[in-house]
Amino acid sequence: MSGACDWNPRSDEVHHDQEAAYDAMRRRCPVAYSELFGWTLFRHADVLRALLEHETFSNVVSHHVSVPNGMDPPDHTVYRAAIEPYFSEARMAAFEPQCRELTQEMLRRVLDVPEMDLTSAVTLPFAVSVQCGFLGWPEGLKLGLIDWILRSQRATLAQDRSELSRIAGEFRAMIQDLMEARRQANAGPEHDITASLMHDVVRGRMLNHEEVASILRNWTAGEIGTISAAAGIVVWFLANNPELHAQLREQRDLLSYAIDEILRIHGPLVMSRRVTTKDVEIGGRQIAVGQRISLNWISANRDEAVFDEPEKFRFDRDPSKNLLYGAGIHVCPGAPLARLELLVFMQTLFDLTTGWEIPEGKPPRLAFYPASGFASLPMRLMRR
Ligand code: HEM
Repeated sequence: MSGACDWNPRSDEVHHDQEAAYDAMRRRCPVAYSELFGWTLFRHADVLRALLEHETFSNVVSHHVSVPNGMDPPDHTVYRAAIEPYFSEARMAAFEPQCRELTQEMLRRVLDVPEMDLTSAVTLPFAVSVQCGFLGWPEGLKLGLIDWILRSQRATLAQDRSELSRIAGEFRAMIQDLMEARRQANAGPEHDITASLMHDVVRGRMLNHEEVASILRNWTAGEIGTISAAAGIVVWFLANNPELHAQLREQRDLLSYAIDEILRIHGPLVMSRRVTTKDVEIGGRQIAVGQRISLNWISANRDEAVFDEPEKFRFDRDPSKNLLYGAGIHVCPGAPLARLELLVFMQTLFDLTTGWEIPEGKPPRLAFYPASGFASLPMRLMRR
């Protein structure tokens, strides 16, 4: 049984400023029902409970294959074991020089532009470029991928099922071409990550087309928007916090911690889904078996019950409380890659510029669900 509607995730308030709206919900109604999401958990403790009690809060939220995001153990365990090696320390060390080169190349192209929209001119092209580099995909796919991501976000917001299925079809066709090219070239696993996935064996057989396509979809469609949002949030935060900006330029070893702490305050990912496998009580609400659950990352990481002065940047926080990359069995396997990409992005910006500023009278425009961060972020880079 569902509750009466406690909130409307598509209201003007949420549309205008997701963070403020979710903060208000956490205080007013921390476990809240809506038509769009089912039950949303806004508190850190409730989100953490759902992450850890994965038998009760299942990831099998739809009939579509989603490897391994949409799986529970035992399937999840074997597929997860197959993808984890792609984010090992050795893989990350091997990718770092290419990641740095792609980032420098991308940033050098915009250094002399007097004023630009950071999202469309820098962070989205950056995220697409490094992700394509990681997967071994050609340059030519980048523009199409950006367009695909933006259309997919618009269709998700509008809940436009026919557009969503058309978009999914386009993606399948693109992946089909990439896989076919590798098959025709007889590409072995050493060729690139895409070819390597095509040779991976799970439960005694090679991953099938649908499984490889799902993995690649999650690593691109799912993550490029998040990486882009994250990069924009960090740049914007430092534009507004010049002392911290100066300190991080001086003490580069603090950058990794700082990026995670900034993204705790301003989350780049809005939510993830679950479904209940039995009746549960959470936050004083009775939730029946089979109900949709949404874990609100942005709100959980701003919960004053866990983080004193949650909106303040602090160097003395316990990083293990930060749910930026989740927790439990579904904790983000791509976190080492995301962290590497964001670190390289900021280091390269520091190397190539003396600073940056938001032009007066041109405030950033916030992104709205399902995206986070900025839809547009006017910016002036000061070339070194
Ligand atoms: C700033 C960037 C990123 C953030 C904030 C982020 C955050 C998250 C979070 C919170 C989860 C847990 C979801 C849940 O419990 O339902 C997750 C899962 C996942 N992430 Fe990331 N992620 C990022 C980048 C990446 C990248 C670059 C990749 C791969 C290329 C990736 C691949 C995945 C996969 C496959 C899962 C599902 C894991 C599972 O179900 O076992 N993520 N991510």
